[in-house]
Amino acid sequence: MSVLEAISAAIGSFAIGSLAAYLIEQQEEEEEQQQQQQQQQLEQELEMKEKQRKEEERNKKNNANEKSKWRIFKEAKAEAAAALPPEAVKMYTRQDVAEHDTIDKRVWVSYKENVYDVTDFLDNHPGGRDLLLLAAGKDIEPFWRLYQAHVNSDVAMEMLKTLKIGELDLEKEPKVEIDESDPYKNDPERHPALKRHSAKPANMEPPLSLLRREYLTPSALWFVRNHSPVPIIDGATHEITIVSGEQNHENLNLLRTKAVINLEHLKKDFEKKMVVATVQCGGNRRGGLDLIKKSSGTGWGEGAISTAKFAGASLRDVLEVHAGINLHNYERLGIKHVIFYGADDMRASIPIEKALSPFGDVLLAYEMNDCDELPRDHGYPLRVIVPGHVGVRNVKWLSKIKLCSEEADGPWNRGIAYKGFGPGYSSVEGLNIDSVPTMQEMPIQSVVAEAENVSLSLATTSEKDEKKRTVQTSAKGFAWSGGGRAIIRVDVSANNGLTWQTATLKEGSDQPLSKAWAWTFWEIDDLEVDATHLKPGDEIKVLVKATDASYNAQPENPESIWNLRGLNNNSWHAFTVKVEE
Ligand code: HEM
Repeated sequence: MSVLEAISAAIGSFAIGSLAAYLIEQQEEEEEQQQQQQQQQLEQELEMKEKQRKEEERNKKNNANEKSKWRIFKEAKAEAAAALPPEAVKMYTRQDVAEHDTIDKRVWVSYKENVYDVTDFLDNHPGGRDLLLLAAGKDIEPFWRLYQAHVNSDVAMEMLKTLKIGELDLEKEPKVEIDESDPYKNDPERHPALKRHSAKPANMEPPLSLLRREYLTPSALWFVRNHSPVPIIDGATHEITIVSGEQNHENLNLLRTKAVINLEHLKKDFEKKMVVATVQCGGNRRGGLDLIKKSSGTGWGEGAISTAKFAGASLRDVLEVHAGINLHNYERLGIKHVIFYGADDMRASIPIEKALSPFGDVLLAYEMNDCDELPRDHGYPLRVIVPGHVGVRNVKWLSKIKLCSEEADGPWNRGIAYKGFGPGYSSVEGLNIDSVPTMQEMPIQSVVAEAENVSLSLATTSEKDEKKRTVQTSAKGFAWSGGGRAIIRVDVSANNGLTWQTATLKEGSDQPLSKAWAWTFWEIDDLEVDATHLKPGDEIKVLVKATDASYNAQPENPESIWNLRGLNNNSWHAFTVKVEE
């Protein structure tokens, strides 16, 4: 080995030796690191477990605190109640509340198991004394559900608290026994503001003070006109049948004879159409005719009329698709009427021309006031809306449609129920009933819904005549005419019709002249009253009459239009106001 080789071998072995030492050192370091990591992991796990344990402990403690807080609260309440003399919290039954329904007896209401005496608050109620009186003796929750401002702010609740006089003793409430044999046992609950003419079947109308508040009548306040118990129908499985009249009729055989369709099909396969329509019962204001001489039927006030936005399929489209009938072939096929059958055994027909008219807007409606279902009282799941025609044609709970050469049989078309006879007939004797057409489109109507009492302290002397004193008052109401005829003018008088002032037309006045299906609101705030001879305590009448686009006007008095069935009372409407100091 040369010296050079020896040196390099020595360097090499030194290098190998130091590399081995380096590697050993590295390995040891790694092992140490691994151990440290394991240690750290272990420590972290322990720390986590400890954290969890502490968290659980804290939660347990918190819960215990909550419970003890709730217990403390409850105990404090119980202690406070125990500290009061026993008579401090008075207990009342709903019957006790119901008996306090006039100012003389003091006005009580209930809300969430508490009882309040609101008599002294009546004149301070921001919504007015008359609205609060509608809830006299009742629970106010259904009213506050309609006017949500009460629950959306604390103000009404705070006021209510100050009026509390006791609590409802629910244990003393008599148990309501359900009579299983009662066919009306499944009828829906109705709003307590509705005036009940009869409960079985339900015939109820909203008070005028609420009816004129909103252009679209809230569904809960809609007048209810039923002939039978409300049918129980499942909208998911409900089907309607469309048939095409007498099968032996030569021409009718040309039609497709039968179709069965359901709600899903109507919603999915037909354009959804909207109609804002006023529906009025043929007997609205019958009570006014009954004052002259009793006619037959429910003695409605002025509230058997309501307005809603309906949505559904166009009857015209459905008849074209499922019966192949349209404006071009109906005459050749001998079809004159469309009969609607309700699941309540009701049936009524309209002339085919109305059903097929592109301007008729007849709907098979499944929605009301933007709610995706009709309420049960108003025809769930499907009803007909025949805009401009008398209420009875708007058949609810629709189950069948029949195209026919004759109008519907039964009382609602052929009987006397919807036929107007002359004022001279007090019985059907001597009448040729068949020769009188049944009601379809309705006549012009108007009503004063609100008018302010006359305040003599505001009376002024006339510039022209020193002896004459005048004062102004205000009034509001609605007007509507059948057949889509728009309201073009409303006149109001405070002197029995000697002079008239024209009111301002409000919501609804922008409807097309020949397709005004909904009512028009009107108001006047400068109605002149001759106060010269008035004294506090007197009463005066605010009169209204309207004119429609065909220049139809209303008759002055009900005597001239009295009829056996009490239909179509559209005489000038009067609203009585008091004269105050
Ligand atoms: C004791 C029971 C009642 C109390 C304490 C009460 C209280 C109030 C209060 C504080 C307001 C003003 C709300 C606001 O603007 O924030 C109000 C407004 C109103 N209340 Fe009541 N209310 C009661 C019962 C009723 C009832 C039973 C009705 C309906 C029949 C009603 C109908 C109204 C209406 C329509 C308004 C709105 C008035 C407007 O904006 O022109 N309230 N009420």
